[in-house]
Amino acid sequence: MTTIRRAAADDWVAARDVRLRALADAPGVFASTLAREQAYDEAEWRRRVSTHAWFLAGDVGVAVGVPEPDDPDGRHLVGMWVAPEYRGHGVADALVDAVVGWARDEGAVRLALWVVDGNPRARGFYERHGFVATGERGPLPSDPAVTESRMTRSISSGRGTR
Ligand SMILES: CC(C)(COP(=O)(O)OP(=O)(O)OC[C@H]1O[C@@H](n2cnc3c(N)ncnc32)[C@H](O)[C@@H]1OP(=O)(O)O)[C@@H](O)C(=O)NCCC(=O)NCCS
Repeated sequence: MTTIRRAAADDWVAARDVRLRALADAPGVFASTLAREQAYDEAEWRRRVSTHAWFLAGDVGVAVGVPEPDDPDGRHLVGMWVAPEYRGHGVADALVDAVVGWARDEGAVRLALWVVDGNPRARGFYERHGFVATGERGPLPSDPAVTESRMTRSISSGRGTR
């Protein structure tokens, strides 16, 4: 069974370590880069962890819930990552469930995300969780040559399709 916990500011080292591992493992799928985040100091990590909803699966998985700009009823899922040796074993499912639960508890009715085009495993995973592509596409901030697609799902009436 996967234990997921919400990180507090004092968990910033654990959050930092798993996030840097994610950026090193999958550099082409995130909006940020390893070099950029390696430069953050303790104060910045504490700020990040306490400002947003970081969910950690030990040191092998992370997902973060953030506000959705211009949509008080929406939340956004970012930073989703599971260590390669733990993929396909339900860790990612537990992380998404945690973020969905957080968003619901905040009163949100929608959860959105961006996924890089050409990341079929992530896309398949999100589709299994009920996310549907909206048709919106844009450049990946960390590499504008890469495009990403927006997906969204309702979180007001059950967890989706599984
Ligand atoms: C995205 C991620 C968190 C998903 O976790 P996971 O444990 O790999 O996900 P799962 O194995 O539960 O689900 C992946 C699904 O995609 C399917 N899949 C795998 N490869 C696929 C492919 N090439 N094409 C289509 N579907 C594929 C799997 O069969 C599975 O679906 P199923 O459970 O219905 O069979 C994980 O792969 C990861 O960390 N990837 C690197 C970082 C990343 O891409 N993050 C997303 C940023 S938006």
